Amino acid sequence: MDKIIINGNRPLKGTVPISGAKNAALPLIAATLLAPGTYTLNNVPDLRDTRTMCNLLQTLGAVWERSGTSVQIDTSHLTGAEAPYDLVKTMRASVLVLGPLIARAGFARVSLPGGCAIGARPINFHLRGFEQLGVSTILEGGYVEARVEAPLTGSTVYFDIPSVTGTENILMASVYAQGKTIIKNAAKEPEVENLIEMLSSMGAKIEGRGTDRLTVTGVASLQPVEATIIPDRIEAGTYLMAVGAAGGELEITNCDPAHLPALVEKLRAAGMQVEAGTTTMSAFCPVDSDGRRCPLIGVDITTLPYPGFATDLQAQFMALMIQSDGVSIIHETIFENRFMHVAELQRLGADITIEGSRAVVRGISRDTLCGAPVMATDLRASASLVVAGLAASGTTEISRIYHLERGYENMVEKLQKVGADIRIQSDS
Ligand code: EPU
Repeated sequence: MDKIIINGNRPLKGTVPISGAKNAALPLIAATLLAPGTYTLNNVPDLRDTRTMCNLLQTLGAVWERSGTSVQIDTSHLTGAEAPYDLVKTMRASVLVLGPLIARAGFARVSLPGGCAIGARPINFHLRGFEQLGVSTILEGGYVEARVEAPLTGSTVYFDIPSVTGTENILMASVYAQGKTIIKNAAKEPEVENLIEMLSSMGAKIEGRGTDRLTVTGVASLQPVEATIIPDRIEAGTYLMAVGAAGGELEITNCDPAHLPALVEKLRAAGMQVEAGTTTMSAFCPVDSDGRRCPLIGVDITTLPYPGFATDLQAQFMALMIQSDGVSIIHETIFENRFMHVAELQRLGADITIEGSRAVVRGISRDTLCGAPVMATDLRASASLVVAGLAASGTTEISRIYHLERGYENMVEKLQKVGADIRIQSDS
């Protein structure tokens, strides 16, 4: 299996262009199932997960083709309504086809995703929301079968916790429902807004974009459109933390700084200089009069739904804090098992103690952070190991890097271009 080899403790310098957001591309690809015809999606990152979603649509009868960063999808003729276990087990976001299939075909059969490395991640909110719209759902043989027996009728759907894919699924399921559907305590993530923008340009009537109360008024039909995926805020944030960890100066381009409010505040509080333009950001770590890097200050974070600190940036932030001056308390409130990276960071010398949903990180001096072989356990944990490896002296060897390929486009090449000594070592 391929590995990433990093010889760390070298500052980064240059420009990193940000790709389209994985978590926006996935629901927008699913939304092409809603109305027959040919769609063009722009700024689609070429990732394992986006390919999986396009292949899932292909098993439903769609035809797709990539040309550069655009993907054309023709959903004129659907031939099936089933997302099989083999696909869903590789990507939980496959459940995003439930909403559009319910709306267009009145029937869907999707394998229940099961737990994953970061938590149990049930889809009970999605199913309860569908039922409130009049969909009957049954669970059989590990599959959810959703069936529409009478025309869907708008209703009020309340989320106990704002769920990103739950909100997206209910939005897509309700676009044709008679009357009004109100989603209360909806997720406000920019990726949800991107989906609302696409659905609106298709002809859907949705009010409340960017708030936690969304109102969908059912329409009779929708049209295929051309839509653009927003920049990946998690990728942008990961590179900001990479330069924080390794030192140096980076310019991040093609990004939306407005989507990273919490991270930017925390990086500034830690002592980094971060400047935001309209579509660019620059970040660097202060140095003393001898040109030596000043250590970052330990700061606390609590992961929360948007606009709070994103859980998808928690592992990378911890990788930054392991070499800070002081103590940082990292409180994970979204997923119950998202500290799998801790044991791997400890292999590099990090001093971290887990106390329930909190990790106490006691910063060590940069000179004591030392490269080691480590194992990636999930997508963002893998990114945190890259961030830590860029800071540590000596060689860090990261195995199971297929996790990274799910969500970061050309990460190794992008880091090489800004001076990192990083490469993929193929075992075959
Ligand atoms: N939850 C339930 N029941 C549900 C749905 C959610 O209890 O039916 C709980 C979850 O267990 C969690 C919380 O609600 O505790 C929020 O989860 P959410 O549903 O928002 O997560 P998701 O939609 O499954 C998306 C992203 C994740 C990201 C989370 C949180 C996509 C495709 N995935 O997942 O991204 O961590 O929102 O922001 O949008 C990643 O990219 O690495 C990733 C895991």
